[in-house]
Amino acid sequence: MFGDLANFMLNKILKFFNRIGKETGFDKGTNYFKTYLDFIRKEDLYPAIYTIDGPSSSPEIIINGKKYLTFSSNNYLGLAGDYRIKQAVIKGIEKYGVGSGSTRLLSGTLDVQVEFEKKLAQFLDCEDSITFSSGFLANVGVIRMLADPFPYFTLFNEKPGIIISDALNHASIIDGVRLASAERTVYKHSDMGELERILKASRQKRKLILTDGVFSMDGDLAKLKEIAELAKIYNALIMVDDAHGTGILGAKGAGTAHHLGVAKNIDLAMGSFTKAFGSIGGFVVANKSITDYLRITARSYIFSDPIIPAIVVGLIEALKIVENGDHLRQQVLTNAEYLRSNLKKLGFTVLGQESTIVPLFIGSEEKAIKFYSALVDNNILAPCIRRPAVPEGKERIRFSLMATHTREQVDILLNVSSDIGKKFNLI
Ligand SMILES: Cc1ncc(COP(=O)(O)O)c(C=O)c1O
Repeated sequence: MFGDLANFMLNKILKFFNRIGKETGFDKGTNYFKTYLDFIRKEDLYPAIYTIDGPSSSPEIIINGKKYLTFSSNNYLGLAGDYRIKQAVIKGIEKYGVGSGSTRLLSGTLDVQVEFEKKLAQFLDCEDSITFSSGFLANVGVIRMLADPFPYFTLFNEKPGIIISDALNHASIIDGVRLASAERTVYKHSDMGELERILKASRQKRKLILTDGVFSMDGDLAKLKEIAELAKIYNALIMVDDAHGTGILGAKGAGTAHHLGVAKNIDLAMGSFTKAFGSIGGFVVANKSITDYLRITARSYIFSDPIIPAIVVGLIEALKIVENGDHLRQQVLTNAEYLRSNLKKLGFTVLGQESTIVPLFIGSEEKAIKFYSALVDNNILAPCIRRPAVPEGKERIRFSLMATHTREQVDILLNVSSDIGKKFNLI
């Protein structure tokens, strides 16, 4: 009797949700996704994802048989198509094949991976390094382990710590933070007063400050000196995501913290091989207690295969070139400064400093889309940054420079931008 009543009620509830679902378009399966897609397309928010014919490593790329000048690549030093690295990868494939077989904890780590991690640690002047198959996975695996209790058993009844993250940190940091059981707080971009207030108020023993070294959408540098001072006072760990600074800033390209003279005060530097190294993979450098701890706790290290060994052979070659690449660093930073200062002279608002990223601020979604389309009409590609990457009203065109851009190519961009800027009353 009671079972019958329960079934009756359950059926009523299911029917109700089914009806509501149909009325609101919240139907299972395709209708649900299609409703959102239709809305996104109607609002002109679905991004153009173009198909490039052939390689994308040089400043000129081909789309549908037409040549475009691109300012959208993170291949800052031009190494993605480097002959020496390609040869090294080919040799790596001949020796190791095209996969690593399994995860490192299950099937063992390869000699070439150990060799690379040692060389990387030396390059970044740290005790040790640990690599991941992407920078995103490095952040997602590492962050929570720095603030949460040891995951398997407890030795001294430790409590979750607190994570304090800059508001403009990269999406992979945001997702990494979300996985933690530690308290999560965000401070206004580079606002040292707010960072200090949070540190002062926090009662947790373990405190972790997270910041990009070079902010990927604004192209500005973190205030690492001030952050290091606060971390010392309040006994906090600092982790810097230096995806856009590694290989570019500091002596030999050792990164933003070296450039700002505070490398010794940074506990962990994270980075990606998709930018200056022109390849794939991510890493963290730190002292050996931290890296060994991560080897047995970071789930994206334990449960995901590493960078494939042939690519690691290529990365060893890339590392040599990056270390000795002062001329490449100088070239890309000169290109960026030339573009930045001349856009300013034309009257544009330009964000950022001293980095390979030059964001031309527009501040209107409609105008940013128009600016982007006008660049495309002039055979120039650069991403239009808008929702959800930045809030409404903060839209921009984000130019990223390469060492392989010529002065003539940057001048073409400047002339075209000047014409478009006048047409849309931006300058
Ligand atoms: C600041 C920052 N961190 C992390 C990542 C993720 O790196 P990867 O491309 O190696 O996954 C990126 C990539 O765009 C980035 O810009």
